[in-house]
Amino acid sequence: MINKKMPVFAANQAFFKDATISSVLFTPCKQVLVADTLENSYNETIKSNGGKAVTMKEILISAKNLKKEFCTGETSQTIFENLDIDIYKGDFTIIMGASGAGKSTLMYSLSGMDRPTNGSIVFSDEEITKYNDDELAVFRRKNCGFVFQQIYLLEKMSLMDNVLTAGALCSDNKKEVIERAKELFELVNIPEITQKKFSTQVSGGEAQRAGIVRAVINKPSVVFADEPTGALNSNNSAAVLNVFTKLHREGQSIIMVTHDKKTALRGNRVLYVRDGQIFGDCALGNYVESDNERERKLDEFLTEMGW
Ligand SMILES: Nc1ncnc2c1ncn2[C@@H]1O[C@H](COP(=O)(O)OP(=O)(O)OP(=O)(O)O)[C@@H](O)[C@H]1O
Ligand SMILES: [Mg+2]
Repeated sequence: MINKKMPVFAANQAFFKDATISSVLFTPCKQVLVADTLENSYNETIKSNGGKAVTMKEILISAKNLKKEFCTGETSQTIFENLDIDIYKGDFTIIMGASGAGKSTLMYSLSGMDRPTNGSIVFSDEEITKYNDDELAVFRRKNCGFVFQQIYLLEKMSLMDNVLTAGALCSDNKKEVIERAKELFELVNIPEITQKKFSTQVSGGEAQRAGIVRAVINKPSVVFADEPTGALNSNNSAAVLNVFTKLHREGQSIIMVTHDKKTALRGNRVLYVRDGQIFGDCALGNYVESDNERERKLDEFLTEMGW
């Protein structure tokens, strides 16, 4: 999708050149026809549009006219202003940009962890910008999973108990929660013996993978991840990213902030934050290992963005 205020960049032009249709059409419902190649389509409903196949993506989060200002003492700093962005269901959306550009601030606003100074955010049909703190906390618990660079697991509990404690917040069905936890630990490749260890007794990569299990135990609509591999070595990073790829392939919507190109390649859409705006928006298509074309597209996009 292209933001109306956003300049059209070569990467986007390349995207449209390759596209099945060369226009973006808005429908009256909360779905948008997005020009995309069919092999890139995900979570799609293929509809006929004058004989042409197009991809329909459902808007999951719609932010309009967002402004965020921080006031410290007598000075104020505007991080973003007049920012509009739609996030689609089933997408693995990457947010990139220079340090201090406002990536984390934007992600926290979209997730309801922080409040924008102005503007509206509609998330899963609920206007979360109207909620008070308690309503927002309930909304977040049901709809959002969080993974951070620092891993906040409770040290005096096993990995499994950390996950079950989070699961108990949203479900009374203990048996079902345990079953889901076991399945997820299997998905992230953490064996039973490790599930029983305290977070202080496992590697950084294992702890982060357990953190992901905890983030998705309550089936959130979106997993928000802020530089989740920032503190990991390359092997552990790859294992953690493989988990995100698996979750995405199972239909999980993910929004991830990263500085790392390799990490960004896991997403199917890359947003670039600059000058208080979504400066660029690149449709990459779904992750395929060692896909030179996707890498080339991302490189070209990032160069255009001045990364
Ligand atoms: N609570 C706060 N109070 C005041 N200023 C803040 C606060 N949080 C962030 N900022 C400022 O807002 C700007 C954007 O911060 P943010 O953390 O969103 O950047 P970022 O793009 O995530 O950077 P990085 O890549 O370094 O994590 C920075 O200049 C930062 O100093
Ligand atoms: Mg940040």
